[in-house]
Amino acid sequence: KSAEKGGFPHFMLKEIFEEPEVLRNALAGRIKNGKAHLPEMESVQSRIKSARNIQIVACGTSYHAGLVLKRFLEDHASISVEIDVASEFRYRNIHIDNSTVVIAISQSGETADTLEGIRKVKAQGGTVVAVTNVVGSTLARESDVVVYLNAGPEIGVAATKTYVSQLAVLYIIGAYFSQIRQDDDRVIQIINELEGMPTVFESTLSTINESIVQLAKEYYQYRHFMYIGRGYGYPTAMEGALKLKEISYIHASAYQAGELKHGPIALLDKEFPVFAIVPDDGLKAKVLSNIMETRARNARVVAICTEGDQEIGRIVNSRIEVPRVSEVLYPLVMSPYLQLFAYHAAVLRGNDPDKPRNLAKSVTVE
Ligand code: G6P
Repeated sequence: KSAEKGGFPHFMLKEIFEEPEVLRNALAGRIKNGKAHLPEMESVQSRIKSARNIQIVACGTSYHAGLVLKRFLEDHASISVEIDVASEFRYRNIHIDNSTVVIAISQSGETADTLEGIRKVKAQGGTVVAVTNVVGSTLARESDVVVYLNAGPEIGVAATKTYVSQLAVLYIIGAYFSQIRQDDDRVIQIINELEGMPTVFESTLSTINESIVQLAKEYYQYRHFMYIGRGYGYPTAMEGALKLKEISYIHASAYQAGELKHGPIALLDKEFPVFAIVPDDGLKAKVLSNIMETRARNARVVAICTEGDQEIGRIVNSRIEVPRVSEVLYPLVMSPYLQLFAYHAAVLRGNDPDKPRNLAKSVTVE
């Protein structure tokens, strides 16, 4: 058993430490001359070019990866994008026709709601691009084209390495859409940084674990956590909160930091800490002022921010620093830190992070 886990106490930890390799596999062959290279998408290229509307459909962690793609496409492929969780999407009256391109994201390719969502799209003449890890899965078989994660099997129930892999593949897909629809120069820089991510992950993973254990020790006994973020930081807040509740069973919610004042801030006090997602991007100053509002309610604040950020250090209780990247890449670079925080909190609370209560790896019934 311990051999299967490669010497790690749990599959989850082993899989987090596989992320550099998983990133390498997700990117392999998909960047040519600084551009996204996806021959598997060729047959839908003209559909992408003329698409009048783009929809993203997914559940759970895959939905959070989709939120990042939505913003990427809006920023770099000049198209507005709708996204919904599959359990809602499948019952909505969405106007789908042959100018609709749907991107369905599912690690397993077997999530019942996601499959029903794409069946509806197909029945109405839309085009489905699937992003999945499982070759020959139902989603792969029923979609027009498939882009595989190539992440290898994931045993831990809460998605970790496959989330990282989804983000990498979705950045490539986003860049591909951009090349077809807009050709935005900034994408060249993003692709260039993306290529360096496996190395960045290698060096961060080799150094961060111990400090995150310490942080988890400070916070694992709280009963609640509020994750906040804006822009690309918001999907990160959602995924961070989901990881924490899935395996540590600490109640965690995620809010757009600007929404705090419309209700959630009423919950905060010294027993209700905040986990702030603070990349050094165009919205940082706004998040800092939202953090000040939470501090005024005596909430303890942990922040995940960019290396060397002096400003944030002065206003929060604890901080985690990540390497500086282009703003779209923060959700990727921040992932392992949030996953490790949830993992150590779960272990400190005596839970088995590989097999959280009430959850299944793949939900094949409605
Ligand atoms: C289950 C898993 C989650 C996963 C979700 C969607 O709830 O526990 O980790 O994110 O299903 O799964 P999918 O295979 O469609 O990505």
